[in-house]
Amino acid sequence: PHLSEILNLHDFEAIARLVMPEKAWAYYSSAADDEITLRENHTAYHRIWFRPRVLRDVTVIDFSATILGQRSTMPIYITATALGKLGHPDGELNLTRAAGKYGVIQMIPTLASCSFDEIVDAAVSGQPQFLQLYVNKDRERTREFVQYAEKRGIKGLFITVDAPQLGRREKDMRMKFEDLAPDEQVKEGGEIIRNQGAARAISTFIDPGLCWADLEWFKSITSRMIVSKHSLPTLTTVSAVPIILKGIQTWEDAVLAAKAGVQGIVLSNHGGRQLDFAPSGIEVLIDVVQKLKTELGMTVPNERFQIFVDGGVRRATDVLKAIALGATAVGIGRPFLYAFSAYGQEGVERALSILHDEFEMDMRLIGAPTLKDLNPNMVDTRSIAAH
Ligand code: FNR
Repeated sequence: PHLSEILNLHDFEAIARLVMPEKAWAYYSSAADDEITLRENHTAYHRIWFRPRVLRDVTVIDFSATILGQRSTMPIYITATALGKLGHPDGELNLTRAAGKYGVIQMIPTLASCSFDEIVDAAVSGQPQFLQLYVNKDRERTREFVQYAEKRGIKGLFITVDAPQLGRREKDMRMKFEDLAPDEQVKEGGEIIRNQGAARAISTFIDPGLCWADLEWFKSITSRMIVSKHSLPTLTTVSAVPIILKGIQTWEDAVLAAKAGVQGIVLSNHGGRQLDFAPSGIEVLIDVVQKLKTELGMTVPNERFQIFVDGGVRRATDVLKAIALGATAVGIGRPFLYAFSAYGQEGVERALSILHDEFEMDMRLIGAPTLKDLNPNMVDTRSIAAH
């Protein structure tokens, strides 16, 4: 179908399934075990209802957001998804260019098919980008990568903490990857296991020993001393790139993260690709917001510690529910993969434009002209609580 016939983000998935190479479809669409978490990620949103308010002036609607200090035209970002070239020859660059055009932020995956430099170079001037980090057993490699990324202007470091071992994605495992073209192979991989699906083939370097105590080390490698440009050669600490933990799944770990002094968390189960029966991010959000308040006296949203959610978000209404409950922004993964697999960069642009239109209309109908007007009173979570 022509792009103009694509009316929502679900449509991209239906088309992608028909046109994508089988292996790419298997890698992108698969999730762990019986894919119960994958399904729940989306259906959890169906249990949250709006409490729309009327007779508020909704002539002008503003849904621009500030994410880790960076401006975004919408309260979403394109989350990290590995192996973009499986779906389209331009891989991740489809996302970079569309993100630049629409003023949204792309999170670059460690395991991108395009090189990190290619993706950074493809950004337009002033276009912020985040980096998703898998931590190497060889910490020296991780240190070099992080410091290089910081030098290249990365605005947020999202350390993935839900993948000490890659989950069991059986659809993907049934595919054999010995015939991956060289540019589909990923440098970081090291020892490559070729016949267990893409996920396993690329993930053997990830350190399962990573723990809370390591966060101090990340802070130490990101905050560097620089010589002040002005007058006397005094030493000044520049504010380091913000560190965010991606893959927090309980309020206990959210509290630990806040105490550890990182700048944010992503409530995520990796799109259902890691532990099946991990809870959906939106459901965890409700607990997290409450416990940050009672355990630490912290109210959200705030500038110091931002909460993000991802998994199963397909409509602006999903995003607005998360914002109302305290999230700063929401990550979206597969819909953009499906969009560029079927239509290249234009597909991603169409997806972003659809979301843009949905935000405008939904906020008008909810009676919230700005994101600040969204609060927990505007959603009814009783069905989640009762569930
Ligand atoms: C992912 N995700 C992911 N996360 C991460 O931290 N590092 C990675 O390399 C990848 N790779 C990856 C590949 C593919 C094909 C998918 C679908 C997902 C997880 C991703 O960042 C995010 O958590 C989920 O994709 C969000 O769910 P939705 O929007 O895809 O439903």
